[in-house]
Amino acid sequence: MKERTLAIIKPDSFKKGRVGEILSFLEKKGFNILALKSRLLSRKTAAEFYKVHADKPFFDSLLNFMTEEKCVVVALERENAVEYLREVMGATDPAKAEKGTIRALYGENIERNAIHGSDSIENAKRELNFFFSEEELI
Ligand code: RTP
Ligand code: MG
Repeated sequence: MKERTLAIIKPDSFKKGRVGEILSFLEKKGFNILALKSRLLSRKTAAEFYKVHADKPFFDSLLNFMTEEKCVVVALERENAVEYLREVMGATDPAKAEKGTIRALYGENIERNAIHGSDSIENAKRELNFFFSEEELI
């Protein structure tokens, strides 16, 4: 059964002109792009999206980063999409990410780490609905 997940190509990747390469990487890994848009997130939107981290020391810095340039939000479809996206993204800290993963290839540091991916099926549903309407996800 095909599963859906949400990726965000983060502002560091956008600034470096790596959006196309990362989308191509994902397609080569078997993901289909179901829906996609480029968005400059407001601070309010970024805070709502990452609200589980509101109490973390890095929250304010994360909001600065996520709002400094456009993000590309992508609804992806594949078998085992949630778990497999996390695998091909690599660890949060690019220095610890396995060779050949997106964060190892494109990330700069633990904050500027190129891409976001939903971390559970439940969160994937919430995050897909956060950015896309039902119609956009057909
Ligand atoms: P994401 O949610 O973006 O897919 O990343 P993740 O699950 O691998 O990591 P998470 O713990 O959810 O953290 C969310 C994002 O916050 C930034 N971060 N900065 N300075 C720091 O110590 C720190 N830790 C996390 C990163 O941009 C991380 O992806
Ligand atoms: Mg996370």
